[in-house]
Amino acid sequence: MDSELLSACKRRRLDVLNSLPPGSVLVVPGAQESRRNNDVNYNFRQDSDFLYLSGFTEPNSYLLLVKDLSSQTKFIMFVEPKDAVAEIWNGFRYGIEGVKEVFAADESYPVAKFSDKLEKILDGLQAIYYSLGTCPTTDDILTNTVKKLHKKTSRGLSPSLAFKPATPILHEMRLIKDDYEIKCLERACNISASGHKLLMQKAAAGLHEYQLAADFIHHCTYAGCNDLAYQPIVASGVNACCLHHMPSDKELNKDDLLLVDAGGEYKHYAADITRTYPVKGKFSKAQAAIYSLVLNAQTKAIAAIKPGIEFEHIQSVIVTEMVKGLVELGILKGDLVSLIQQKSYDKYYMHSSGHWLGLDVHDVGFYKVDGKSRQLVAGMCLTVEPGLYLPATDTTLDSKWRGIAVRIEDDILVTSNGYKVLSANVPKDISAIEAIMQHETL
Ligand code: GLY
Ligand code: MN
Ligand code: MN
Repeated sequence: MDSELLSACKRRRLDVLNSLPPGSVLVVPGAQESRRNNDVNYNFRQDSDFLYLSGFTEPNSYLLLVKDLSSQTKFIMFVEPKDAVAEIWNGFRYGIEGVKEVFAADESYPVAKFSDKLEKILDGLQAIYYSLGTCPTTDDILTNTVKKLHKKTSRGLSPSLAFKPATPILHEMRLIKDDYEIKCLERACNISASGHKLLMQKAAAGLHEYQLAADFIHHCTYAGCNDLAYQPIVASGVNACCLHHMPSDKELNKDDLLLVDAGGEYKHYAADITRTYPVKGKFSKAQAAIYSLVLNAQTKAIAAIKPGIEFEHIQSVIVTEMVKGLVELGILKGDLVSLIQQKSYDKYYMHSSGHWLGLDVHDVGFYKVDGKSRQLVAGMCLTVEPGLYLPATDTTLDSKWRGIAVRIEDDILVTSNGYKVLSANVPKDISAIEAIMQHETL
């Protein structure tokens, strides 16, 4: 096991326990196996909250952090027990003793005993930190146990027990990345960056979108990613107007742009990078004009990032630059302020500036605090991903623009005095892209 990960998990558990009031428990269910077809399951991926606090990757588990009324704390795990036959078929299990020895649980039990043991664990506590609605099985087990305990409460034998959301504690912690997480995010971005460069070199008319997706998946998993952070988006020509287009059997056309939005997942941390480039290796005049507009908006938005700025400021820089550029190209007509106020750009740019990045590609954490856009602080990681999508069917557009779609996405770490672009290894200037597409060495 990765000792750095285990130490990080221990620190995080201590931080959670410090935030819990006496007389409470945090309950985190692990992910369950999910059936794909007949007797085949989807690839298993542990729940991100569960990973964050334990590092444990087996399915069907529970993690509890208890702080009793006298502030004594306990880390309890419920896991699948060791089973010689099941392990021959499906692999090693740490089992009841293993999770104590390796993952530092104070107590551990077979997961089949979860609902039986729960009543004793909850009895005498006042709050359960668990986000109801996230896991139906756990919702039922917890609410049934609380109902039983309420009978004791009504006879004055046990304090009343309230559900509280776990999100404000756990997801606010996950929003600020620790050193271990930053290393994993950097690695995910570096592996993904070289995957993007590989695709820039391979892209050629006649290849199918799915073939480039396969190359990216192979590259990331061969380089040590546990998986892809999400299904790669490989979209050529008008397909790129669909924001989450799935790679199809469409052949790349030499005159099209190719949009690749893809990222590996390294030690469960996501990269999320998009580049758009011409299949034939040279931008046409119209493609270069739209590309430069998006790149300018992205560059200025990234340059504005530093602690203290509001998350929404990133979008406002993008929108201002986009609208200026669209007016210069004659795609929008009118005065800048009213075009922005009327959101006249949103038929061509209809999404936000980006999102938090971490264990989940669209990572957790509130974007608003007390109704106001959240201020950035060092340790946050986010994407900046403006795009312009000019539909082929939009007859209000000059025909030279129709069907052009561009998105450029980078992964940014907020630092104490500004930012670091974790995905900086993938070229995005027109000249650098055209150079690498002429098969310069990686
Ligand atoms: N890859 C999905 C996104 O950029 O949000
Ligand atoms: Mn993204
Ligand atoms: Mn993306």
